[in-house]
Amino acid sequence: MDKAHFGLIGLGVMGENLVLNAERNGFSSVVYNRTYAKTEEFLSGMGAGKNIVGSTSLEDFVSKLQHPRRILMMVKAGPAVDAVIKDISPYLEAGDLLIDGGNSEYHDTERRVAELESKSFGFIGMGVSGGAKGALEGPSMMPGGTKASYDAIESLVCKMAAQVEDGPCVTYIGPGGSGHFVKTVHNGIEYGIEQILAEAYDLLKRVGGLSGTQMADIFGHWNSTEELASYLVEITEICLRTKDPADGSDLVEKIVDQAGQKGTGLWTVVSALQMGAPVPTIYAALNGRVMSSIKPQRQNAEAILHGPAVQSFELCGNDGTGPLMDAVVLACMASYAQGMELLRIASAEHDYNLNMPSIAQIWKGGCIIRARLLKRIQDAFNANPQLVNLLIDPWFAEQVNRRLPGLAKVVAGAAEAGIPVPCLSSTLDYINSYRTARLPQNLVQAMRDCFGSHTYQRVDQEGTFHTEWLD
Ligand code: 6PG
Repeated sequence: MDKAHFGLIGLGVMGENLVLNAERNGFSSVVYNRTYAKTEEFLSGMGAGKNIVGSTSLEDFVSKLQHPRRILMMVKAGPAVDAVIKDISPYLEAGDLLIDGGNSEYHDTERRVAELESKSFGFIGMGVSGGAKGALEGPSMMPGGTKASYDAIESLVCKMAAQVEDGPCVTYIGPGGSGHFVKTVHNGIEYGIEQILAEAYDLLKRVGGLSGTQMADIFGHWNSTEELASYLVEITEICLRTKDPADGSDLVEKIVDQAGQKGTGLWTVVSALQMGAPVPTIYAALNGRVMSSIKPQRQNAEAILHGPAVQSFELCGNDGTGPLMDAVVLACMASYAQGMELLRIASAEHDYNLNMPSIAQIWKGGCIIRARLLKRIQDAFNANPQLVNLLIDPWFAEQVNRRLPGLAKVVAGAAEAGIPVPCLSSTLDYINSYRTARLPQNLVQAMRDCFGSHTYQRVDQEGTFHTEWLD
């Protein structure tokens, strides 16, 4: 056989589906997996009859690839990526290119790009979103590294990516670890929206008294609106409609209420705090998962700490419209706004030169946070590439002004009913803070100066001031 166009290392579900995707798009492929039995299983199963060959060692793998080699690594983020790089490097030649398609921490990617480029190999850190189905049918991809390295994989990734009306869901993101940084922020937004939809479900169930099917109907209505039509709302409807085959009851109610995480949501929040970007809705989602994980403590505290009895308040009509929809719309918008603001700040800090409309464009298809709203986000950044916050774009500002009373009603009702709504309440505080020209931090400054002589600035005079408050 002629040498293959494309190589894949790591036959997990994502790896298998990505190589099938590449092959379907005309790229003959060679695969390598640490355990050869897995390679054999794949080649005699889903990979059978395809233009895909196996390899028994990394040397064998590299020898079966056309030069310059394009190698996608789909291995667990962390030390495994460094191990593969170390093991394969002796067989590579100048110009060969490694692509890390996992959810790597972006500082690791910065380091790997610098190390490998210094040896004349290319290295691309590429966020890949869309889960197993997306990997097979067309994911959204966020590649970062040198432009020359991206140019060498452009024809491949443009064919493999999901396609939307204005092109493939992939673009050159920028230098260094920018691709993985953008994917990390994508996941932070993903955490936010998942938690927002979970809070809406909790209110519909506990305040509205709705069954799984009735709730699914509401999410179905929401999925037909411009503001909420999205992959995550679509799968929420499916999850709520699904019954346990054992007894026909709602399957969701049988699932333990503890959500784990693999790191990207945490990294989003840590980066945001380090860079001074406010991301309270995303942080609330992360904290929601942390609170969920201390279940034994919560079970114990339920008997000790008492809240108000759950009481009914207005959520939404049968068509899905009403205060709860207002609240969900604004919290989702806030998640995107906070993620985009973090990208803007990181872009300046790391010289990533991120193209905001392009990032919105490649998130319109294939990825987990794909939503009709991304067209509006793309339009907003196209109209004003320097936009500091999505919520002050005219279309989004009108949504905020119209829906803020609904969000406030839901947060107030939830507080009176004793039901936690961390993302919805953080969003209300976020918007109220953002639209308040004078916040009470003047008093914080006074206290800091009082106990620690930290000084302060005045509204009526230039300069730096200190007062002997305690005399
Ligand atoms: C995607 C997802 C995916 C991510 C999972 C798990 O875009 O396809 O973001 O890459 O790994 O959603 O994330 P958590 O386990 O941290 O929720």
